[in-house]
Amino acid sequence: MTQNQEIAKGLEGVRFTESKLTFINGQEGILTHLGIPIQEWAEQSTFEELSLALLLRRLPIAQELAEFDAELKANREIPEELTQLIRQMPQDANPMQALRTAVSYLGLLDQQSEDITPEARRAISVRLIAQLATIIAAQMRAANGKDIVAPRQDLSHAGNFLYMINGTEPTPEQARLFDIALILHVDHGMNASTFTAIATSSTLSDMYSAMTSAIGALKGPLHGGANEQVMVMLEEVGSPDKAADYINAKLDNKEKIMGVGHRVYKNFDPRSRVLRDYAAMVADKEGKSTNYQILETIEKTVVDRIGDKGIYPNVDFYSGTVYTDLGIEKEYFTPIFALARISGWCASVMEYSEDNRLLRPSSVYTGDTDAHYLNLEDRS
Ligand code: ACO
Repeated sequence: MTQNQEIAKGLEGVRFTESKLTFINGQEGILTHLGIPIQEWAEQSTFEELSLALLLRRLPIAQELAEFDAELKANREIPEELTQLIRQMPQDANPMQALRTAVSYLGLLDQQSEDITPEARRAISVRLIAQLATIIAAQMRAANGKDIVAPRQDLSHAGNFLYMINGTEPTPEQARLFDIALILHVDHGMNASTFTAIATSSTLSDMYSAMTSAIGALKGPLHGGANEQVMVMLEEVGSPDKAADYINAKLDNKEKIMGVGHRVYKNFDPRSRVLRDYAAMVADKEGKSTNYQILETIEKTVVDRIGDKGIYPNVDFYSGTVYTDLGIEKEYFTPIFALARISGWCASVMEYSEDNRLLRPSSVYTGDTDAHYLNLEDRS
């Protein structure tokens, strides 16, 4: 038996498809969508526009964007059966398990769910992008024993989400800040959850199955769970004057600092710069919050000590404080990641489906090759 014995552990460096969506140059800290730098998307666009642009694989014209925006708004309501299910979920349920269950149930209720034509996949993508916000907000309210707030049609995607979780309309600045945070998380090349979504859909399975798989992949602490850990760290540090000692002690013990380091970005993560600049702007206007001051000290200490290893803040470093300031509990940071990434997942599945090939890698077999079946009584 001959087989190629080379193993690409973690599939690192393996390219299995082409994509026009996202380009990353980790050494130079470059991230573009459709060739446009992430900084420009964050400064000039909206979550709605980036989502549509990725689905279309080009910048939409004004009429297309207006229609897409209207479609998203019209699809914000979730079926009553799903609202009831959310109310019945255990209050201490893991929010990502709850989200995975809700999206799976949404598929059961969608008459079109088994349709995998491009038109159906697009229509389902719009519903999923719109309704994930309603589902997550409803889960957050129900888990806190609060009434579920119905979506409004006159607010942006980001503004409506903040309205549904807090029950009050956000300021334009809060809505825009959250919009930027969503933009920064929409897509990031062939990450584990996007790959998982594509693997599921490559079997010609349906969109809901693909998205449910992706949510499961995002749930893990090596992927979507790090931003929550940054908030845990800030709570442990407590005050800015303790930050340097806390970090130095962790590094002396060879412990990992959450929110710094990245497999791809070895210089800086451009998404973290956008958030840092925004956080600095807010700090200039409203004074530095305790969390912001702690983060400043942590960044300086980390960069001084291990910056030469390519360890700098990643996108999770600042996102947690932004979310906390907007009234989002840390247990919901990973669902918020899904709220943004759903657009990237849908766009990636649609792109791959156009020239689909079943994903079926192989492993190098290292077990016995000349064994024989033994009856139970002959085994020791
Ligand atoms: N804190 C302290 N030291 C670190 C950290 C960190 N967060 N990350 C890497 N290092 C050190 C390693 O110990 C290693 O040191 P050594 O050469 O002396 O052994 C060196 O830097 C190189 O690190 P690697 O482990 O090879 O880097 P890798 O690319 O495998 O790790 C990872 C990337 C997993 C993200 C890592 O940096 C980490 O665990 N960070 C904290 C968790 C985190 O913030 N994850 C979010 C990533 S962004 C996202 O998913 C949206």
